[in-house]
Amino acid sequence: MANVYASSVFKPGIFQSKVVFCTGGAGTICRRQTEALVSLGANAAILGRKKEVTEKAAAEIQSLRKGSKVIGISADVRDLKSLQDAVALSVKELGRIDFVICGAAGNFIADFRHLSANAFKTVVDIDLIGSFNTVKAASSELIKNKGSVIFVSATLHYYGVQFQSHVGAAKAGIDALSNALAVELGPFGVRFNCIAPGPIDGTEGLARLLPDGAREQAIKAVPLQRLGSINDIADATVFLFSDAASFITGTVSVVDGGAWQTGQMQALAYPDTVLNSDKLWNKMKKAKL
Ligand code: HXC
Repeated sequence: MANVYASSVFKPGIFQSKVVFCTGGAGTICRRQTEALVSLGANAAILGRKKEVTEKAAAEIQSLRKGSKVIGISADVRDLKSLQDAVALSVKELGRIDFVICGAAGNFIADFRHLSANAFKTVVDIDLIGSFNTVKAASSELIKNKGSVIFVSATLHYYGVQFQSHVGAAKAGIDALSNALAVELGPFGVRFNCIAPGPIDGTEGLARLLPDGAREQAIKAVPLQRLGSINDIADATVFLFSDAASFITGTVSVVDGGAWQTGQMQALAYPDTVLNSDKLWNKMKKAKL
């Protein structure tokens, strides 16, 4: 996994005086997205459920660039009031909010026959309702500053992925929310786009769906013949928030090396289990996912 974000493409200081508000900001992907924006001049508020983890990550991100301010706020995206408080604190400490990243997500593999209603609802609450709550809480700042929003989506609802019915449903909802808001709030100057990461090296999501032994097999299913890095997602984020994307809204940027187009990753990683849910579940359980 790349240790730092360093861009030879985007100009230093392009996000000077901008502020990003990022949920899930201590997690692998969202942290790198925030680091990239901060390294290019932004200030940031990152949100997470665990106070200590979030504050430590904020201090580390802040240390990347002299003069940047990064605050960590503990909040649960399922609770609109805690997000409204987080927005108020961010505006007090950082002055404004220009960019929002809706990155908080919950995921586990679960056989539908044993997936409880509450387990399904929990993931929808974090991913989809949490994204709604985040935009809702930040909406007046976004409208005032003609801001921009990135939802972290996925590709697993483009086709059927076993044991991910809850996550696929939530991510499909996020794509729909983004499209609708792009149309509704576009006239106010606010842009909404999704980034759909594919197999990104070093992330919990990939480790969960792909145990070590299946790594080389899985790479064979990626047209660009490698796994993605968190910097690939950070680059897409920088582009979508930059002025170079000022006419881009209501889109999904799929950053996956073309992987979903083949639809082969799960089949290659777990041969002989296609459409055999019991066999696949046993293999995945053995891999302690
Ligand atoms: C089945 C499970 C479960 C599991 C929890 N539940 N874990 N069911 N298999 N492994 C059920 C519980 O039994 C309960 O239902 C309900 O879900 C709520 O569980 P809680 O533990 O009370 O919820 P909570 O404490 O809020 O935790 C939320 C969580 C948590 C999502 C369950 O585990 C979490 O945050 N996980 C890690 C987050 C994460 O992985 N983030 C990276 C996301 S990567 P009952 O019926 O018993 O009450 C990502 C990429 C997607 O999203 C794309 C992948 C390619």
